[in-house]
Amino acid sequence: KLQPVLLSGGSGTRLWPLSREAYPKQFLPLAGEDTMLQATWLRVAALADAAPIVVAGEDHRFLVAEQLRQIDAPVPAILLEPIGRNTAPAIAAATLQALAAGDDPLLLVLPSDHVVRDAAAFRDAVRVAMPAAEAGALVTFGIVPGAPETGFGYIEARPGDGVRKVLRFVEKPDAATAQSYLDAGGYFWNSGMFLLRASRYVEELQRFRPDIVTAVRAAFVDAARDGDFIRLDKDAFASCPSDSIDYAVMEKTDAAMVLPVDIGWNDVGSWSALWDVSEQDGDGNAHHGDVIAIDSRNSYAYATRMVALVGVDDLVVVETDDAVLVAHKDKVQQVKDVVAMLKSQQ
Ligand code: GDD
Ligand code: MG
Repeated sequence: KLQPVLLSGGSGTRLWPLSREAYPKQFLPLAGEDTMLQATWLRVAALADAAPIVVAGEDHRFLVAEQLRQIDAPVPAILLEPIGRNTAPAIAAATLQALAAGDDPLLLVLPSDHVVRDAAAFRDAVRVAMPAAEAGALVTFGIVPGAPETGFGYIEARPGDGVRKVLRFVEKPDAATAQSYLDAGGYFWNSGMFLLRASRYVEELQRFRPDIVTAVRAAFVDAARDGDFIRLDKDAFASCPSDSIDYAVMEKTDAAMVLPVDIGWNDVGSWSALWDVSEQDGDGNAHHGDVIAIDSRNSYAYATRMVALVGVDDLVVVETDDAVLVAHKDKVQQVKDVVAMLKSQQ
């Protein structure tokens, strides 16, 4: 049985001012007509044997429910976190929910804010990965790295074809280390999408982080059920340590395997990444909304009113009701510093 799990707890600060705490990027139609959450479900609906389990922040419950209803998705189970504790606890909560239904399904864990251009190729990859996951492996989908990015997990895979054993998993190495992996070859980026049997995840998490399992179990047992919403107990979940699946489990487990994929994956982690996945005109400009570009190249503009670019290259201009961002396309990683600065002034 294949059970999709949609992780929808991130805040996407590098896409400020569009992505906000109240309305983060997974709820925006950043790459097409559907929101990223909707696109995530639609991509895997044909594979799924059950309605999605969504794990999201309490504040976003109506956005999740409404957006899935809009696309006629089967009624999801929506696990609500009173406070974010990163992905290791979020996936643990989804696992307990899946196991509570009485069987031990394969969980297809998906960030709800990634672009996958070739959905059919991704579905094929999931099918290829299923036997290994059935047999107990924690399978991730590997991406051929294009640059020494420091925001990704790096996977050294045993040479060969198909699903391979992970020899080494290093979450977010520094730039020099990332470069050495690219030079060495044989490394993949962790896409952050996983296929694993529910009970196997709990076992491995129990081995490395029993404290997280204990806290999430308590939060799940004492959860308040309210229609489709399952509110994890506030005190128990707040007492859970914060950690990602990558640090908590994937770096440490012997059971990790990777299936390299070529699916047009992009995690839309920044404005330049969004420019990358957007349709570009002959001058390399991409835009959303009413935008005129004259004598300008390789720029991205997002407009709610009319925006005109004249004689500029490699610029990102994002215009919303209450904020305007103008950034060099090579410096967009620093947009998160704007958010940090705004927060510190509050
Ligand atoms: N429900 C819930 N609760 N979801 C969360 C939480 C949380 O506390 N924290 C993060 N998420 C969701 C995010 O919305 C996103 O969809 C996904 O989980 C991954 O979290 P990120 O915060 O985006 O992780 P990352 O980008 O730093 O790193 C991960 O993804 C990379 C690929 O994009 C890692 O898995 C890396 O190894 C990987 O390369
Ligand atoms: Mg991410």
